[in-house]
Amino acid sequence: HRHLLGIAGLQKWEILYILKEAEHWVALNRSGPAKHDDRLSGLTIINAFFENSTRTLLSFEIAGKRLGADVVNMHAAQSSVKKGETLIDTAMTLNAMRADAIVIRHASSGAVQLISSKVDCPVLNAGDGSHEHPTQALLDALTITRRRGSVEGQTVVICGDLLHSRVARSNIFCLKSLGADVRVVAPPALMPHGIEAFGAESYTDFDSALNGADVVMMLRLQNERMQGDFIPSPREFYHLYGLDERRLAIAKPDALVMHPGPMNRGVEIASNIADHVERSAITEQVEMGVAVRMACLDILTRKARCVEGWA
Ligand code: CP
Repeated sequence: HRHLLGIAGLQKWEILYILKEAEHWVALNRSGPAKHDDRLSGLTIINAFFENSTRTLLSFEIAGKRLGADVVNMHAAQSSVKKGETLIDTAMTLNAMRADAIVIRHASSGAVQLISSKVDCPVLNAGDGSHEHPTQALLDALTITRRRGSVEGQTVVICGDLLHSRVARSNIFCLKSLGADVRVVAPPALMPHGIEAFGAESYTDFDSALNGADVVMMLRLQNERMQGDFIPSPREFYHLYGLDERRLAIAKPDALVMHPGPMNRGVEIASNIADHVERSAITEQVEMGVAVRMACLDILTRKARCVEGWA
């Protein structure tokens, strides 16, 4: 089976194909109350979430249901994982229920790939540790494409806790593949070593990075992944790396503000910027998330449905 484990495993044409397919689902989702296409009728999709989520879990659930699939959610906190069941045993249990696709979020990098090697259906990565969050990068690319015409040639600034961010990794791969100039900004302690090898230009001074930016993507501090590491104080972080009106004015006059969520208002982003009617694309990102996940579920289940096409 073909899986969606990360952007690193996708060719440029494959990314563009998913984005094109997602446009169709944006149109359906905006078509009124009857926004249903039951092409996945009879299929069972399991969302197995070993970490908390609001956007990714709900949008995968909505995406599967809009396509007519039977969707069930497994929250690890309420599962037998709490009784000591291993990841592999949990995966084999889900597999035995004859799922047609499994969507997984896990705190460990590589856990989703491990599961994909043990089950008999497509596996979609909904975020694994600090490794990848491919559908987030795809929905971000769709948002930028719709707002700016194209990703190619755009200067995208990604600022925040890059060290622990799977969103940043997937976005760097996706944006570079589509021809954007990517600048990354973080305090030295939260900047991954060797990030330039991925084609991103690294900055520690946010103001310098913002000069000429078309898109400013803010990331939260992932305190839950900072065991014993340097943890900046929220006030100090906002002072040095928070996106406020003064800083946004350094970017291009029509620069787009993005945030994958969940936001910590007043830590990495000012409330009036997050809520800015023209500049903020944050709620649009969420909307694009449903469409992109519909596209991914449709594409990856084609083999099971004996439908011709990619995957
Ligand atoms: N952007 C994102 O992954 O949000 P959730 O953690 O709420 O799914």
